[in-house]
Amino acid sequence: MSLLIRNALVYDGSGAAPMKADVAVEGGAIVGVGPDLPVRADEVRDAGGLALAPGFIDVHTHDDAVALEADGLHPKLSQGVTTVVTGNCGISLAPSPMAGREAPPPPLDLIGEAAAYRFPRFVDFLDALRAFTPGCNVVPLVGHHVLRARAMADLARPAADHEIEAMRADLAEALAAGAAGLSTGLAYPPARHATTDEIAALAADVAAAGRIWTTHMRDERLGVVSSVAETLDVARRSGVRTLISHHKCCGEAAFGLSATTLAMIETARKTMPIDLDLYPYTASSTVLIETFARDSRKVTVSWSDPHPEMAGRDLAEICAEWGVDQNEAIGRLRPGGAIYHQMDDGDLERILAYPPTLVGSDGLPRDKRPHPRLWGAFPRVLGHYARDKGVISLQTAIAKMTGQTAKTLHLADRGRIAPGCKADLVLFDPAAIHDAADYDHPVRPAEGIAGVWVNGVLAWAEGAPTDAPRAGQVLAA
Ligand code: ZN
Ligand code: CU
Repeated sequence: MSLLIRNALVYDGSGAAPMKADVAVEGGAIVGVGPDLPVRADEVRDAGGLALAPGFIDVHTHDDAVALEADGLHPKLSQGVTTVVTGNCGISLAPSPMAGREAPPPPLDLIGEAAAYRFPRFVDFLDALRAFTPGCNVVPLVGHHVLRARAMADLARPAADHEIEAMRADLAEALAAGAAGLSTGLAYPPARHATTDEIAALAADVAAAGRIWTTHMRDERLGVVSSVAETLDVARRSGVRTLISHHKCCGEAAFGLSATTLAMIETARKTMPIDLDLYPYTASSTVLIETFARDSRKVTVSWSDPHPEMAGRDLAEICAEWGVDQNEAIGRLRPGGAIYHQMDDGDLERILAYPPTLVGSDGLPRDKRPHPRLWGAFPRVLGHYARDKGVISLQTAIAKMTGQTAKTLHLADRGRIAPGCKADLVLFDPAAIHDAADYDHPVRPAEGIAGVWVNGVLAWAEGAPTDAPRAGQVLAA
């Protein structure tokens, strides 16, 4: 099956200015790029001058479980995403942490309930993904919370040496199976008591395997500067390639600190491989935690197991209705999640404009009333922040979602439109593309996206999935 896309405005993912060209695809790979290609193809499509970019790589997802569902990656395909990095923030579906537990400890419940954690080893998860064929390509990380929960019954203390050895053994299994790296989430209860030494020991194994460490840092509030210092310390001691996840400054007292953190990162990058990503919103979202709610302008419940009827409701209203304070309400709503309005657009724009910053969604596909980033993150960067606000150029925005990301993840044949690269492609109208999902309508597909190809297969077209078979691959390291 061959495909020729004619008359496209090609953004090749390198950050270079676009050029009018044709793109020829054969056997799932790009075989030619250039003006007026003299190529015959089974299918010829006239792009009508629309923008053609490499399929977007969502560098920060929690799509582990939904990658195993038929329509689970539709929120991503609808935005032009063709590759998702799973297992972020310390949370991965494998290896299972359920021995001796009835429910996965929060935040592991963000991606699934007990039954979802059914893979004894990391390789079992990858085998299941391969047998299923996900809708997008999957780059799988293994999460520190599950390693810790397997090694320790009580997570509220530092790990002993033999427990760190148990985590290292599981980590070794995951890396051998093809995990792209390790994620940690030191802000969350299961890892809050993990020492810097514990993380550095695991990071050294990741470095030895040539993989990457992604980190949801210990503190993204007033302590964000010391968190970046801790991150750089781990990177220095272990030599690991490091990706700071969803960089942000939460709570009014922390506004503006990104000037300091980016300066630290810039200095560190002179001698170490440090990258970072962000999602383009001034509200965060995760499980319900008292400290996260504390300095938010507004908190909206995104899901609640005991009170499903409260999804979409304002926490302050619930408190008034129940006649209780915030902490009591959170206790009653848990297990549950929330959207926390607590960042400043100035920090967001500064971080987005910083050249090394990549784009991720951090979408939470299991939430009843999800944060709109699940359906809107990529079109929001292209439409709102690049085209409308001019924070970065369109070709820079695309590079932050494609070529730069592939480089950080060591994906040699993704993220570029060039002969030899896989045919992950997105065709869109640069004048029309925009996110339609917002806090009131969180699950609306973006507009302006004409077609999305995964490994040469048209998976999404004109606002809907196609009936082509799923074509994602597991991009094991
Ligand atoms: Zn996170
Ligand atoms: Cu996350």
